[in-house]
Amino acid sequence: MPVPLQRRILVTSALPYANGHIHLGHLVEYIQTDIFVRFQKLRGHECIYLCADDTHGTAIMIRARAEGRSERELIAEMRQAHLADFAGFQVAFDHYGSTDNPANRRLCGEVWGALRQRGLVVSREVQQLFDATAGTFLADRFVKGTCPRCRAADQYGDTCEQCGATYAPADLIDPVSTLSGSRPEVRSAEHLFVTIEELHGFLAAWTTSGALDPPIANYLAGHFLGEPLRDWDVSRPAPYFGFEIPDAPGHYWYVWFDAPVGYLAATAEWCEAHGRSFDSWWRRDGSTPAEIHHFIGKDIVYFHTLFWPAMLEVAGLVLPTKVRVHGFLTVNGQKMSKSRGTFLLARTWLDHLEPAALRYYYAAKLSGGIDDIDLNLDEFMTKVNSDLVGKVVNLASRTARWLAATGLAATYPDDGGLFAQAAADSAAIADAYEEGDFARAMRAVMLAADRANAYVDAEQPWKLAKAGPDASGRLQDVATVALNLFRQIAVYLAPVLPGLAEQVGRLVGGPIRSWDEAHTPLTGVPVAAFTPLMKRVETAQIEAVIAASKQDATQDNHTTGGSSMDTPTAPPADSGEALAAEPLAATCTIDDFAKIDLRIARIVTAEEVPEAKKLLKLMVSLGGNDTRTVFAGIKGFHDPAALVGRLVVVVANLAPRQMKFGLSEGMVVAASGAGGPGVYLLSPDSGALPGMRLH
Ligand code: MSP
Ligand code: ZN
Repeated sequence: MPVPLQRRILVTSALPYANGHIHLGHLVEYIQTDIFVRFQKLRGHECIYLCADDTHGTAIMIRARAEGRSERELIAEMRQAHLADFAGFQVAFDHYGSTDNPANRRLCGEVWGALRQRGLVVSREVQQLFDATAGTFLADRFVKGTCPRCRAADQYGDTCEQCGATYAPADLIDPVSTLSGSRPEVRSAEHLFVTIEELHGFLAAWTTSGALDPPIANYLAGHFLGEPLRDWDVSRPAPYFGFEIPDAPGHYWYVWFDAPVGYLAATAEWCEAHGRSFDSWWRRDGSTPAEIHHFIGKDIVYFHTLFWPAMLEVAGLVLPTKVRVHGFLTVNGQKMSKSRGTFLLARTWLDHLEPAALRYYYAAKLSGGIDDIDLNLDEFMTKVNSDLVGKVVNLASRTARWLAATGLAATYPDDGGLFAQAAADSAAIADAYEEGDFARAMRAVMLAADRANAYVDAEQPWKLAKAGPDASGRLQDVATVALNLFRQIAVYLAPVLPGLAEQVGRLVGGPIRSWDEAHTPLTGVPVAAFTPLMKRVETAQIEAVIAASKQDATQDNHTTGGSSMDTPTAPPADSGEALAAEPLAATCTIDDFAKIDLRIARIVTAEEVPEAKKLLKLMVSLGGNDTRTVFAGIKGFHDPAALVGRLVVVVANLAPRQMKFGLSEGMVVAASGAGGPGVYLLSPDSGALPGMRLH
C-alpha cells in the first residue's frame, strides 16, 4: 500500500491523575510521546498531541476533603502545576484538557448511549465495604487487613503482597479503613456493568491485528482472552467525584470510564478551537481514517487494550492504530524512593538540572519495548557530558568562531563524503524514531558525531587559524564542513532537543523546520557569534537534586500530592528560624483569648483588587445567611479561582474597617514570617463546617 504523503496522526499520552505532581517516572512517558510528535511534525505530517488531567475518582475526593477544600479547587491548582512542569520539560501539547470538562461529559453520554443501545449494560447488587465514619464506599486500596489465605497482616483489599492471593476486600480478616481507621461494614449497592464478553471475538481479532506489540498481545491472550471476559463494573454510587450517569441518578461513571473518553474530549476541544472537524479524526465515515497512537505505561494496558477499544467499537469510532507501551522508571536500579531522595519531582529537577539533559538520556534509553528503564545518575552525568557536550556541542564550539567574519563557504567543500554519509543515514534514523526505538536513533546520531569529530581532529582548524592569511580559505572550508555536520546532527536530534535546534537555527541557517534539512548542506550564509550551547552536568547538581528531593518528601503530604498511602517518613527537624524572627507576644489570659471569635468560613467568591498590590476581595460564608466581605492580603500567593470553595479561619468579630476599596467585615488568618516568602492559609480537618468556633 502506498504511504500517503502527508499522514494525519493523533497522539496521546495517558492522562495524569490530578491528585499528584508530575515526577520523573511520568516524564518517561510524556517526553517519549513529545519526541514522537515532534519527529512527525518535523517530517511534515499533520500531528496533534493531546492530553488532559484525569480529575475524577475517590482519591481526589478524599484528598480534597482532607485539605478542606473543593475538588474543583484542587484540580485547578494541580492543572497549573502540571502545565508548568510539562512546559519546563518542553513537552508541547497541542491541547491539554480536563476530564471534568463539559465536552467530556457530553462524549461520555454518547459512548454510554451506544453501550445501552447495544444492550451491554446490566445492573447488579455488589457487596462493598463502606466506611460509615467517612461516609463513603471504599475502593480496594483504601482497605487494609489480614490476608485470608496466609494471615499476613496489613495487606491491601485486593491482593496480598506476601502470598500473592487475590480476593475481595470483604474477605480480609479484621479490615480497617485507611481513611478513618474505623472498621468498615459490608453494604450492598447497585452497580452498573458492561457485559464486555459479547465483544470477545472482536477483541481477540483486534488485539492481534498489529495495533499491539506481540508481547502485549500474548499477555492479553494469556491473562484475559483465554477465558470469558468478566463484566466490567463501570459505576460507583454516591458520594463519588465524577459525572452522574444521566439515566441512573445517584450513580457515577467510574473514573476509568470517563478517563479514556478524555482523549475524545481533548480532540473535540482542540477541533473547536481550531475550526476543525472532530468527525474527521474519530468517526468512521468511509474516508481514510487518521492514525491514532496512544502512549501508556505497562500498568494500564488492560484499560487501553480491552475496554477502550470495546467502547470505541460499540460507539462506531476509529480504533487505535497503535497502543505503545513502555516500562517503569527505576532510579539507580531501584524503585523511586522518597527516603533515598530518588522520588524526583519534575519541578525539583528543573530547579537544579537542564530538562534537555533528561530528554536526551531518556531518548538514549528508550527502545520501544516494555522493559523498565533505569535512570542511573552516574551514567546520566557521564553520558550527557560525553555525548551532548563532548561530541555534539563541541563540534560547534571548536569551529563556529572561525566563521563569524566570513560566514559559510560559498560552495560546499570536499569533506570526504561525511555529509553524504550522514544524509544517507536519514531513513534508518527516521525508521528508528517511527518505531519508538529512540535509543537506536541516538546511537546512529552519535556515530555521525564521532565521524565529524574525527574530521575536525584530523584537520586541526586551530592550527590553520594560526597559520595566517594563506590558510584562511582552508580554515573556512574546514569550519564550513564541521558546522554543517553539526547542523545535520541538530536536525536529527531536534525531536529530542528542541532547545538545541533553536540555538543552532540562531547560529546558522535559521529555524530548523524540516527533517529534509539534513539532506543538503548550507553554503554562503552568515554565522552568528557563538554562545555556549549546553553546559556540563556537575556532581554538585546531582547531589543538590537528591538533597532537595529528600526535602520534598518531608513536606510531601501537604504540598506535593504524595498519597497518604506512602510509607511515612520521619518527622522533619523544624528550624527555629520563624520563631526567632518573631518572638512570642506577651502572655494573655483565657479571657483575653475568648474576646476573639475565630470561626470556620467558606470562601464563596474571590477576586483581585486591581488597584491593590496585595489584596484579594473575598466573600466568605459563616453558614446560613451570614456572608461578609473581607479584604485579605494574600494576592500573589493564591489564585483567586482556586480559593473558591475552600475553608479558612476568620476573625469573625473584628470591628468592621473602612478601606480604600470597601468595607472589610472580618479578617482571614494566615501564617507568614521568616523561613519563606509565602502567606499560608489555614485549613481545618475534614468534617469542620462553616460557623464552627475555634476554642
Ligand atoms: N490517570 C491514569 C491514566 C488514564 S488514561 C485514560 C493514570 N495516571 S498516572 O498519573 O498514574 O500515570 C500516567 C502515566 O504515567 C501512565 O501511563 C503511567 O504508566 C505513567 N507512569 C507513572 N509512573 C511511572 C513510572 N514510575 N515510570 C514510568 N511511567 C510511569 O494512570
Ligand atoms: Zn497472603
